[in-house]
Formats: sequence, C-alpha cells, structure tokens
Amino acid sequence: MIIEKGQKIPFDISNYGLIYYYDSIHEKTKFDKDLSEFFKRIESKKPEDNPVIGYFEEIEKNEGTTKLSNYIFTPKPFSFVVKDYPRLIENVLSMDAVLFLICENEFDKQVDLIDYLKGQYDGEKKIVSGFSYWGKEPTHQWGQACNSGYYIMRRSIENFPKIWNPIYNSFPGGLFHYVSLGVGTGKKDIFILKELCQNNKDLIYIPIDMSIDMLRKGVNTVKKDFGMKDIKKYSGTQIAPIQADFSGGTKLEEIREVITDIVNKEPIIFGLLGNTLSNFDDDSTTLKNISKDFLRSSDLLLLEIARTGQITEKIREKAIVEYSHKDFKKFAISALSQVTDIDIDIENVEIQVKEETMKKDGNTITRALKILTYYTIDYEKKTHLPNDEYFKFKKGDKIRIYLSRKYTKEGINSLIKNAGLKIIDEAQSKPSYKDVDIGLQLLLLKKEKKEEKKESIRS
Ligand SMILES: C[S@@+](CC[C@H](N)C(=O)[O-])C[C@H]1O[C@@H](n2cnc3c(N)ncnc32)[C@H](O)[C@@H]1O
Repeated sequence: MIIEKGQKIPFDISNYGLIYYYDSIHEKTKFDKDLSEFFKRIESKKPEDNPVIGYFEEIEKNEGTTKLSNYIFTPKPFSFVVKDYPRLIENVLSMDAVLFLICENEFDKQVDLIDYLKGQYDGEKKIVSGFSYWGKEPTHQWGQACNSGYYIMRRSIENFPKIWNPIYNSFPGGLFHYVSLGVGTGKKDIFILKELCQNNKDLIYIPIDMSIDMLRKGVNTVKKDFGMKDIKKYSGTQIAPIQADFSGGTKLEEIREVITDIVNKEPIIFGLLGNTLSNFDDDSTTLKNISKDFLRSSDLLLLEIARTGQITEKIREKAIVEYSHKDFKKFAISALSQVTDIDIDIENVEIQVKEETMKKDGNTITRALKILTYYTIDYEKKTHLPNDEYFKFKKGDKIRIYLSRKYTKEGINSLIKNAGLKIIDEAQSKPSYKDVDIGLQLLLLKKEKKEEKKESIRS
C-alpha cells in the first residue's frame, strides 16, 4: 500500500508492505527507489499470501507474460502525472479550465518572507524579489500600476512589440515552446505567443511565477486576450502554468525536469521580461543559475532590462520621479500591508537611488543605478505576523519594500558574460524622455560553450 506520511490506516496490513511518501517533488527520487525495490522483493521472494502475486498470476495466465516488472510502469509518480500532461491539458482546456502545477510550499515561503522582513538574513529589513508580488493585494495593485496612465510599466507593455518585432523578424527559425519566467499581467506574453504560434502549431506555453495569484491573473489574461479560440485554432497549443520560485538553488534543476517532462527535448525560448532581473538582490547569480540550470544548447533566452547611459544628476532625478508615482507606491506598500497590521501611510514611502559598482580589469566602474523603495515606520509598533508571531518595529525602522535597477552598458555586458551567455540579437526602445538616455533593452541570448570568470560587484 502506498500512503502519504502522517496518515493512519485503520487495519494492520504491514506484513504486505507499506510505502510512505511525502507529497513533495523532493521525495520523488526516494519514492521511485522504494517502490521499485518493493516490487523487486515481491518478484524474487514470491510470498504466497501476497495479493499482488495472485493478481499477476492471473494476468500471466491470460496474457502469457511472466515478468512482474513488465506490468509496472517506471514508478515515477511525478513524471507519471506529467507524462499525460498534454492530453490532460487538452481535456482541461475543453472544459475552459487550466491545470496548475504547484511546486512551492506556501508555509515555507511565508517563513522566508517573515525572516527577511525581520532582517534575519543580513540585518536589512526587506521584502525580496518575488514577495513584492506575492498574494492577492500586490497582484491587484500591480495590475492597477500596469494600467496607470503614468507609471512606466504601462508604456513598457504597450511599446513591447516595437522591440520584440525586430528581434522576431531576424529569428533563427525552428519550433520553440515558450516559458515565461515571471508572467506578471501576461500582456507581453500575448505578443510573443502570437508570433511563435505561427511557426509552432504545437507550442506549449509554460508561465512560471512564484505568486499563484499573479500566475492566475497572467493565465486568465492570455486565455482571454489571446483568445481560447485562437489557442484552439493553433491546435494543440497548451498552457501548463507552474507556481515556482526561480530565484536559485537546486530547485531550478527540479523545475527544469518538470519542464522537460512537458516538452520533451524540444527547444524552448525562456522569457525574463519587464526588468524582473533587476528585482533580485544578487541579479548576476540569478541570471547565471537560470542559464546553467534552465538553458540547453538549443534554447534561447529573451531578456528585457532597463538601461541607462552614463549616470548623471538628471538621470538620478528622473529615476526618482518615475518611482515616486502614487500608483507605483500603492503597489510597493501592498506586500507590507498584507503581512503586517501596520497602519500604512503612503507618505512614508521614500525612493532613493544609489550607484552600484563593480571591479573590472582593476578599475571600479558603475554597473547600475539602484532604485531602492523604503517604508519608514513612524511609531513603535508591535506587529502581528501571519505566523501568529509578534514582532516589534522601532520608530524610524526602514524596510526596503522594492528593489529595481537601470543598468549601464558595462553592467549589461558583465551580467551576460558572468552567466555564460552570448547575444544573438538586441533591440532598444526609444529613450523614454527627450533629455535623458534611459529606456528598455531586449536581448536574445544563447548559451556560450564555456563559462567566464565572475566579476565582483559592490554597492
Ligand atoms: C516586474 S514583473 C514582470 C512581469 C512581466 N514579465 C512583464 O514584463 O510585464 C515580475 C514578475 O516576476 C514574478 N517573480 C518575481 N520574482 C520571482 C521569483 N523569484 N520566482 C518566480 N517569479 C518571480 C513576479 O511575481 C511578477 O509576476
């Protein structure tokens, strides 16, 4: 009998053998091993009173097969589910529903969020990368900010075809599936899918996001705007959303295994759009891990990042103005107001800019302009956290609620080099303002054969 660890059975069948499993991807390998050893034991010992033997003797009589293992699928519980994924999704799609793969434990994530907020990792109280978008309220506020008449994200979405189309037109060809790393509203993915689906009628679209609410929002937008009808017209095009954190660690390899189970060995374009990379504290390692664990030699990475010319006082001012818009601030504080019972006041949100440097050939050069959004606690507050813990914020405590960057040319080149990638093609948006050279850059990247030495970064 196979039973989830922690569950009890009402009768004693332990003589027949019990395999316990934990409901997690990590347990997959152990479960595979235990189950196959269990079957081998039955096969070699042939215990007389074992109902499994009786069952297989019956089959042997009818079908003439002698080996027990001929009847047993390779016991991979996770791939077993995923093996039939395309058909399953097709059925699900015909019901106008979508099947989501959940790869994160919400409780573990909540512990991480709280530890960062209390400053337990490096002393800085902060909400890191994906947690800024995690949950219903941040997802709602992000959607509002992306629709805002002013905030830069709306322009970034609307103008995306201007940088995507020239890249697509010089595309290397071939049939690609599309994996969107950090789906957001899903609007940019629609532009990408429209083109890629022309080439690959069997394209599988795999949006990945740490925030289940964001993932749901993105998938709904793609289904609605791209149109279920269109998806069916390009017969076979399927959506396989995965809730997962791609910020690093061994988990990336596991996520890649799941993706491979879905698309087999066919090439993939990964999209990391909307300057998402700049939200990560260690952006360089994040890109390096994505390149190392996700990209195969035939895969491509579409990376969209914010760029800046030389950093001048005017550029610093513009960056502060961009992030000082109330629609952005409302989004930025939403993660904090969701997890604490602090009386949030938008007036306490402050934007700071700081140059981030790196060492190159013995010289110190600027890699990015860091844009840091802080919330200052204006009264001592014993706050109630979602894990039922109380934590005291002092008056004047600064919580970093959002991190972004605008990269210099050297910064972009060093990111790409450290990740072992090379540029296939690139396009730049027109500068966002007449008087300062800032905008977005879309890069089509591929894996270099050899990985380069890492450059040290300081801020
Ligand atoms: C700046 S938005 C970009 C959205 C979209 N790609 C676009 O360009 O409009 C960042 C997205 O990445 C997701 N995200 C951020 N950090 C993540 C992480 N560590 N793992 C998975 N998703 C993450 C967020 O939830 C959000 O949907």
